[in-house]
Amino acid sequence: MEKAFYKSLIDNNRAWVERRLSQDSEYFTKLAHGQQPPLLWIGCADSRVPANELIGAQPGEVFVHRNIANMVIHTDMNLLSVLDYAVNTLKVRHIIVCGHYGCGGIRTAMGNQHVGIIDNWILHIKDVYRFHKTELDNIQDFDKRFDRFAELNVIEQVYDLAKTSIVQNAWESKQELHIHGWIYNIGSGLVQDLNVNFHDNNDLDEVYQLNF
Ligand code: CO
Repeated sequence: MEKAFYKSLIDNNRAWVERRLSQDSEYFTKLAHGQQPPLLWIGCADSRVPANELIGAQPGEVFVHRNIANMVIHTDMNLLSVLDYAVNTLKVRHIIVCGHYGCGGIRTAMGNQHVGIIDNWILHIKDVYRFHKTELDNIQDFDKRFDRFAELNVIEQVYDLAKTSIVQNAWESKQELHIHGWIYNIGSGLVQDLNVNFHDNNDLDEVYQLNF
């Protein structure tokens, strides 16, 4: 059974290649020439939130980074490398941080259960709870509090993105770079723009503003 599942993955790949080639016989040879995506996507690793698919993006149109609960953590070399490459080499014009309702990482951060090494990743989400404790603790209904926490986490991650030397440097150099926060509803398929607006480092708390 498992072997059949595994084999189906290769079969699906072959069928996908054939479908693409039937529409455009040059499809893969054109893609092989390089990429110039206008967008960096930072999303959750959740299997129900497929970055390309939900915005109708084709291969070559979006540079993707995903981790548990779409976090922007300043010591994460993986995130920093993706961000640096996207901004300074690919020159993306937009970055979207996309969270989602029903996120397991957010739910775990609301509880106290020890899970494993992931506890230390979740700590960063707990920090977001602490920053917004007054607002969140005032929401009596668990599901509503859970939803709002997912939204606030996105907003904080956009802020964390804006704080990075990479983004501040791009703004300082007058490079076009817009950063956005979205929340995705798995139950409806719809995204909502949370309208988080950071345009230059004057929007940051003074302590974060870098002089170049
Ligand atoms: Co998630």
